[in-house]
Amino acid sequence: MDQERELVSLRRVTLTYGLTKILERTDLRIVAGERIALVGQAGSGKTQLLRVLSSLVIPFFGSVRLFGQKLHRNQALLAQVRRSIGMQFQGFALFDSMTVLENAAFPLVAGLGLPEAEAQVRARAMLAQVGLGEFEGVLPGGLSGGQKRRLAVARALVGGAPLALFDDPVAGLDPVNSGKILDLIFAARAGVEGSTVVCAHDVDRLLPRVTRVLMLHKGRLVFDGSPEEFRRSEEPAAAAFTAALEVRA
Ligand SMILES: Nc1ncnc2c1ncn2[C@@H]1O[C@H](COP(=O)(O)OP(=O)(O)OP(=O)(O)O)[C@@H](O)[C@H]1O
Ligand SMILES: [Mg+2]
Repeated sequence: MDQERELVSLRRVTLTYGLTKILERTDLRIVAGERIALVGQAGSGKTQLLRVLSSLVIPFFGSVRLFGQKLHRNQALLAQVRRSIGMQFQGFALFDSMTVLENAAFPLVAGLGLPEAEAQVRARAMLAQVGLGEFEGVLPGGLSGGQKRRLAVARALVGGAPLALFDDPVAGLDPVNSGKILDLIFAARAGVEGSTVVCAHDVDRLLPRVTRVLMLHKGRLVFDGSPEEFRRSEEPAAAAFTAALEVRA
């Protein structure tokens, strides 16, 4: 296994909406085999950074390389890159007119081009892992908020993509269930030769499970290092953030 296989390389990426800078001069390299926590206050730019990492937005300033390819607006290139990415969106982004099973199988059929029957077998196994086995015929409208989130997580995991991105998979969960979902994500990812990025506000549960922490503050990457270094960081925004956590102890 090539531990140094580069999945992501951002060079001086600046993302703007009108005159507002959402991400500022971001440099980031992710290689295979990493478990990364993406943290920061609400509005710090976490979702926007995940949109860049998932190729959904191509910044005008700076360069983005995913799996060794420089991104630009080319549908074939973007389709190819996106086959290597699993994404759980903060707002779930489920297909309301498809059943739970069809939603879970979607990345396998539409993304990887697997035959329907094979995709369904794999999607079923994934749904069982996230505790939604009994709901495969239900439409998303018939799921609770927590169940919708688990379906969104299942969809990000099902393809075993080299790069899997999770945008607050544990939002609103109690500490016990938050830990369970995070364990499920990292257990499922353990067999994949790739990397996982999890954004979450439940930093106390997330940090013990990762190898690296990225912190955004007002669109700037103010910390990039190990969880141990993060706990002790004296970078002002990071120190202010960790002061509010149990992990600072
Ligand atoms: N389409 C848009 N147009 C203008 N500004 C936007 C747009 N989308 C996001 N923003 C701004 O970008 C900033 C970063 O937003 P982002 O959603 O990445 O925050 P976040 O860190 O994910 O927050 P949260 O923890 O609440 O999910 C915010 O100030 C937000 O208002
Ligand atoms: Mg967000």
